[in-house]
Amino acid sequence: MSEAHPRGGPPAGGYGESLFEPEHPREAERIDAAALVYDPFTTRRLRALGIGPGRRCLEVGAGTGTVVRWLLETAGVEEVVALDRDTDALAPLDDPRLRVLTADITDERLRPGTFDLIHARFVLMHLPDRRRLVSRLAGWLKPGGLLVLGDAVELPDVLAPSSAYRRTMDAMWQALDSTIGTDISAVPAYPRFLREEGLRNVAAEVFCPPLVPGGPLALFWSETWSRMRPALEATGRVDADVVEEALAYLSSPRLAELGPGMAMAWGQRES
Ligand SMILES: C[S@@+](CC[C@H](N)C(=O)[O-])C[C@H]1O[C@@H](n2cnc3c(N)ncnc32)[C@H](O)[C@@H]1O
Repeated sequence: MSEAHPRGGPPAGGYGESLFEPEHPREAERIDAAALVYDPFTTRRLRALGIGPGRRCLEVGAGTGTVVRWLLETAGVEEVVALDRDTDALAPLDDPRLRVLTADITDERLRPGTFDLIHARFVLMHLPDRRRLVSRLAGWLKPGGLLVLGDAVELPDVLAPSSAYRRTMDAMWQALDSTIGTDISAVPAYPRFLREEGLRNVAAEVFCPPLVPGGPLALFWSETWSRMRPALEATGRVDADVVEEALAYLSSPRLAELGPGMAMAWGQRES
């Protein structure tokens, strides 16, 4: 049951500490840029899984609350618990069916209740011991409840390993691993993790949104790389010129890449 990803030493600090600090003036905007791109895919799947009125939902790592808003306003669920280590960005959401929970999901003492839906997008990949976390989340499902996990996957163009784009993206994953412990290598194992938890109807899918110049995803990567410059260069994979070239490429009409996608895996507790 343990995760098979060897790591080169402990990370220097978790998400929001050495990188992606919530108080950064453009952090909410950065998260929103990616949310905009992935929300249609996420919500289409949640709808297909039957999420609607009467459901009690836990949104783990709720971020700026775009999925929370969809659950409340479009799906019309009964209650949403929106959990994040930093919940300032959720302040504008005002709904009696919303409970905002400022908490660290890795805190073993956490007991948020039981749910018909537990959804976590782009959260587990940033956290330590995510296999254990999948177990804890599965333990909070009501009978018939769904656990839905979305995280990043890469389909790299291995025929162009030395392009500035590829080198910078690879440097980013390495830098994220060594600074905050991000690791996407276990994402394809999520369906197996869900099966190991005894969940039924386990399935998964991948969505790779278009990476087009000036589009929200290009802006997201551009902002992410710009904020990580020292960490990118510290990997030794790129220098300032390569990062500059990669950033220019993101806004150039020549941009043509299959960007990182999102894998969604889900499973259901027996009724
Ligand atoms: C990349 S953002 C994704 C936000 C949102 N799920 C989305 O897809 O738009 C990761 C979110 O997880 C939160 N987060 C990171 N580590 C956390 C932890 N240990 N406990 C709770 N939330 C955490 C961050 O504060 C941030 O809001």
